[in-house]
Amino acid sequence: MEELALDIKIEKTSKSNLDQVDFDNIPFGKIFSDHMFLADYKDGKWQDLRIVPYGEFSMNPALSAIHYGQSIFEGLKAFRNRQNQEEVLIFRPQDNAARLNASAKRMCMPELPENIFMEGLHKLIELDKGWVPNTEGSSLYIRPFMFAADAFLGLKPSDTYTFAIITSPVGIYYSNPVKVKIEKEYSRTCHGGTGYAKVAGNYAASMYPAKLAQAEGYDQLLWTDAAEHKYIEESGTMNVMFQINDTIVTAPTMPEEDTILRSITRLSVLELLSDWGVKVEERKIPVQEIVDATKDGSLKEAFGTGTAVTIAPISHIGNDGELLEIAEVEGEKLSTKIKQHLQGMQMGEVEDNKGWIYRI
Ligand SMILES: Cc1ncc(COP(=O)(O)O)c(C=O)c1O
Repeated sequence: MEELALDIKIEKTSKSNLDQVDFDNIPFGKIFSDHMFLADYKDGKWQDLRIVPYGEFSMNPALSAIHYGQSIFEGLKAFRNRQNQEEVLIFRPQDNAARLNASAKRMCMPELPENIFMEGLHKLIELDKGWVPNTEGSSLYIRPFMFAADAFLGLKPSDTYTFAIITSPVGIYYSNPVKVKIEKEYSRTCHGGTGYAKVAGNYAASMYPAKLAQAEGYDQLLWTDAAEHKYIEESGTMNVMFQINDTIVTAPTMPEEDTILRSITRLSVLELLSDWGVKVEERKIPVQEIVDATKDGSLKEAFGTGTAVTIAPISHIGNDGELLEIAEVEGEKLSTKIKQHLQGMQMGEVEDNKGWIYRI
């Protein structure tokens, strides 16, 4: 990257919590590193860039974000380089910066210049480098987010915003293949809605149907189109891919479809598959096609792609009360090959010939 040039004030914590963390046993999303990055949007510009000890925000009860929901976020991961323990590797952070701005635009929020995102991230991770785990399957989850900060009751875009980055050491998300239910009653979004943006409300809308599915023994939902519930879109925190015979099929994202979050992991997988000469079709996926392919054995694999999970194999699909099991393929699975390659790149064990890795 270019030279770090922004004026970011750093206030260091007087007491690190690092020695209290058991890195062999990390719960997901509950432990936070010592510092956070903050920036305020006021008077039409981003200002007061700072790194401060991790701690609580004070909040006006009329905070616009909690009443009207202008709240967006991102998720990415930092890994310790297995070949050089001093170095931290982050996967495609500029793509998260760009997606944050796509979300901001849809939510009538100000864009954040990429250099604020990148320099804030760089300096924060540099300072909290000790928090990047090196145990198997673990990483430092990075959560950039932006919310409306006006204290005002009234439906209009806020004039002020806060951008923050917090980080959290995490372990493995799913240790077993996942069981997903094809959702045909509820929707998380619809055409013309906010599905392609990473906005807090999308996740709020997904919780009730996801809870119902979990009560039935599923891990996640497979969302279908809101209009007809005939086409598979994506899952809770991942896009999905199906291998039918020797072809990978996945639903299109922006600009073709506005209901699916444009997963950066998915884009990476598609690029690798293209390099490897695997046939890929980005197209609408009828539920019936997947049901038929599961039954006649032409569905070789189904898996999710996302930062939290990297690649999550799907073992069962529930449809209209019927539980379909995806038969195990013999030999090396494509999903395993992809996962090993991506994770290898993320941890410095496979050469990054794509320029996807940002080094600190
Ligand atoms: C709804 C949704 N879809 C897909 C993904 C996967 O996206 P990415 O690969 O960029 O993490 C996520 C996670 O960010 C998500 O929340």
